[in-house]
Amino acid sequence: MAGKQQTDDRWRRYWNKTSASYDKQMRFYDRLLADSRPWVCAQATGHTLEVAIGTGLNMPFYPAEVELTGTDLSPGMLGIAQTRARQLGRAVDLREADAQALPFPDACFDTVVCTFSLCAIPDERRAVSEMTRVLRPGGVLLLADHIAGATWPVRAIQRMIDVVAVPLQGEHYLRRPLRQVQAEGLQVERRERFKLGIIERLAARKPING
Ligand SMILES: C[S@@+](CC[C@H](N)C(=O)[O-])C[C@H]1O[C@@H](n2cnc3c(N)ncnc32)[C@H](O)[C@@H]1O
Repeated sequence: MAGKQQTDDRWRRYWNKTSASYDKQMRFYDRLLADSRPWVCAQATGHTLEVAIGTGLNMPFYPAEVELTGTDLSPGMLGIAQTRARQLGRAVDLREADAQALPFPDACFDTVVCTFSLCAIPDERRAVSEMTRVLRPGGVLLLADHIAGATWPVRAIQRMIDVVAVPLQGEHYLRRPLRQVQAEGLQVERRERFKLGIIERLAARKPING
């Protein structure tokens, strides 16, 4: 437990430090992600949880009627998200929370969203399991992230990047969130992969009788 606390503290400090420059960095990366933010957010309905919401770059793309709750490990990121919500005139319930232990009861959200963060959460299996737990039966999980590429030469390059990126940034390039989504028993309804298979976005539904 002490080890997990130290890991959380380390990545909280990292993301707090990164928060001020995050939006500027993402202006470049968002071009690679194409229309993934609107693709994800347009499918959100009802009471929606965005896990690891960061600075709230998805906020402008949610339909007005969505009731949004956002969590993140980093108070620095959440502070910027709060300012963005105010500027957009959107009510958002923002909370500091670890994606691997969400502070919500079972089955309380209609939609759970997580974009470009499963690559950065230490135990992504636990995080997907928590997202599934808080989703109501019939609710939808919406994910977008960079994942292990479609061909071995791409994955070989990603493996080399991982050697540096995992210890320095906590960023993993060879993850496959689809496997966790399927292991949780969710039904994948839409899935798209592009940019050499590196970018994946999917919508998966929690079975009513799961
Ligand atoms: C690359 S940013 C993505 C932010 C945002 N989702 C987006 O699409 O721009 C990764 C985010 O994950 C958050 N994060 C990392 N580990 C986390 C954890 N264990 N629990 C909650 N948030 C975490 C970081 O604080 C950061 O805001």
